[in-house]
Amino acid sequence: MNLIKHVAIIMDGNGRWGLKYKKSRNLGHKEGLKTVEKIIEQTVKKKIKFLTLFAFSTENWKRPKKEINFLFNLLENFLIKKTNELNKNQIKLNIIGNKKIFSKKLKKILLNSEQITKYNKKLQINLALNYGSKSELIDAINSLKRKKIAFTEKNIDKHLHTKNTPNPDLLIRTGNTKRLSNFLLWQLAYAEVFFEKKLWPDFTISDYNRVLKNFQKIKRNFGNI
Ligand code: FPP
Repeated sequence: MNLIKHVAIIMDGNGRWGLKYKKSRNLGHKEGLKTVEKIIEQTVKKKIKFLTLFAFSTENWKRPKKEINFLFNLLENFLIKKTNELNKNQIKLNIIGNKKIFSKKLKKILLNSEQITKYNKKLQINLALNYGSKSELIDAINSLKRKKIAFTEKNIDKHLHTKNTPNPDLLIRTGNTKRLSNFLLWQLAYAEVFFEKKLWPDFTISDYNRVLKNFQKIKRNFGNI
């Protein structure tokens, strides 16, 4: 049976869910947040140590301003309300992605949640915000070049936003779309990938359990036979 240390998730389908059931993409994001909370709780129960969630990509800035503002408001309110609970549950929050372009207010909220939870050991959530894998890799390589450090696999690992995190064992993408969308391209090199038909707000704990169970049954060879 494969041990699961790290699950990565592309939470796709909020917009479609919102339009289908509530006539508003934003209400799909609100519903998607409920799934986020359930999945975090189940990940702790399963004793999985790392969960990386793709919440906002570098490409998502192309969306209408109203949707972007809604998403970041949702995130701010979530962190303001839930950081203490995350802390009580021994969960560490780590932001991956480029924070530089965020408002002062959001930066402060993110930093506060990261600092409060930084010594927690039960689960580390890597929340990907303004994250793009290609720019992460370019930054890592430039940083190695500046420091005159060799471009080895280990050194690149150490200069990615996911440093100190094992590579994901599996990637789940909901929303019936089969692509990686510039997410963890380097780190997912040997991950098992599960594309799920359901839209993210409809993804349940039993769907999650089924994927984890199926992952555990896979014979992983890493290029060997
Ligand atoms: C993709 O669905 C989802 C997002 C771009 C945002 C993810 C956000 C959440 C799950 C809720 C907020 C999370 C936090 C942590 C506050 P989509 O909008 O691309 O859906 P579509 O493919 O149907 O358009």
